[in-house]
Amino acid sequence: MTRVRESLFNRTDPLRIGEAKPAYSPDAGLPASADSTAEPSIICESEEWIAIRRHLHRYPELSGEEYETTAYLRERLENLGIRIVDYGLETGLVAEIGSGEGPIAALRADIDALPIEEETGLEYASTRPGRMHACGHDFHAAVLIGAAQLLKRREAELPGTVRLLFQPAEERAKGARQLIQAGVLQGVGAVIGQHNKPDLPVGTIGITAGPIMAASDGFTVTVRGTASHAAVPEAGIDPIVTAAHIVTALQTIIGRSISAQERAVVSVTQVHAGNTWNVIPDTAVLQGTIRSFDESVHSRIKKRFAEIAGGVASAFGAEASVRWSGGPPPVVNDAALTALAGICAHGLGLRVAEGITSPASEDFSFYQQKVPGVFLFVGTSGDREWHHPAFELNDAALPGAASLLAELAVRTLLHLSETVEKED
Ligand code: NI
Repeated sequence: MTRVRESLFNRTDPLRIGEAKPAYSPDAGLPASADSTAEPSIICESEEWIAIRRHLHRYPELSGEEYETTAYLRERLENLGIRIVDYGLETGLVAEIGSGEGPIAALRADIDALPIEEETGLEYASTRPGRMHACGHDFHAAVLIGAAQLLKRREAELPGTVRLLFQPAEERAKGARQLIQAGVLQGVGAVIGQHNKPDLPVGTIGITAGPIMAASDGFTVTVRGTASHAAVPEAGIDPIVTAAHIVTALQTIIGRSISAQERAVVSVTQVHAGNTWNVIPDTAVLQGTIRSFDESVHSRIKKRFAEIAGGVASAFGAEASVRWSGGPPPVVNDAALTALAGICAHGLGLRVAEGITSPASEDFSFYQQKVPGVFLFVGTSGDREWHHPAFELNDAALPGAASLLAELAVRTLLHLSETVEKED
C-alpha cells in the first residue's frame, strides 16, 4: 500500500497536472483547449467533454425521465472501457473504476433538467420545448465523464475503487434517496459532489467545511373561514384577509425570532383563494418554502411558523392547518475531505474560495447523512443564476473541474486506506 501511495503522490502524469504544469489555466478566458500550456491529451479530451456537455444540453430530460440521457452516458462510459454496475435503476446509472477491492470513494453527478423554456439563443440550445438544463446538470455529468476518463487511465494504480454515480431526479430531491435505497453507498467511505456556481469566476472552486447549502422544507397552510356574500363580510369569516395577515406575520420569523448570526429564509410562493369577484370564499391556501443551514434553526422556524399561522388565524376567528413536505437536510461538508479538496485544487493551479454557501438545497445531503462527503462549487462566470431561462455555462470550467474530481478521488482513496490502517 505504501509503495502505491508514493507512486501516486510523486508522479507528474496528467492526473497530477497541477504540480508540473497546469493543464488548466485559471486565468484563461477560453476553454482549456485554447490554453497553450495544456497537455495535448487533455486538450483533445476536454473538447470531447465539452461536446458531451453540449449534446446533453440539446436533449434535456426531466427528473425521473432521463432515459436517453442514461443511454447516452452508458455508451460514453462503455466506450471508455468503464464497467457499468447494475443496481436496477430505472434512470441514472452507476459505474466503477478500480479493482473492486480496497476502499471505495463515490463521485456523484446529477443529470436531470428543468421544466423551463430556454431563452439563451445558443447554437446548442435545448431542442425540446419547455425543457432546459437550466441548473447545469449537463455540465456535472460531463465533468464526471471527464474525471472517469482520467481515472480510467490510472486504473491499475488506484488504491481502491471509484464508484461513479450518475444520479437522476435531483430537482425533485428524489434521486439521491432512490440510489441510496438501491444500495449504491454499500462499502463507500466517502462521497464527492460538485455544482457549478455562476457567481464564481472560471478557475475558482468554492471549498468550505461545514454547512454550505440549506435544508429545505415546503409548506402548505390551509386557512379555513366561512364563506359569505362579498357585500356582507360580517356574515362570514374572511380567509383571504386572514391569509394576508399570516403572510405578513410569517416575515417576522427571520427578523424577530432568528439571530442575526444565523441564516434562514421564509418565502411564501403561492396564494390561492376564491374563484369570483363577489363571493368571499371559505378557504385560502398558501404554499412556500423555508431554508436554513442548521437543524436547530430549522426546527425553531417550524415551531414559530405553526404558532404564527394558528395564532393569527384564531385572532380572525378562522383556523389554519400547516402541512410540511420534507426536503433535503443541509449539505454539510466533512472537514478532512474539505481539506483534501483544497490541497488538490491548489495543486492543479485552481483558485480556492472559502466561505461560499448557497440558500438553495441539494439532495447530495442525503448521501452525507450516511457517509462523510464534500460538495464543491465550480466557478463558471455566468451572468444568470441557476433556473433562469437564460442561464448559461462557460465550458472553460470543465477541464479544471474534471481534473479536480479525479485528483480528489485518488487522494480520498489514499486517505481512506490510511484511516483503515490506523484502525487496524
Ligand atoms: Ni442543480
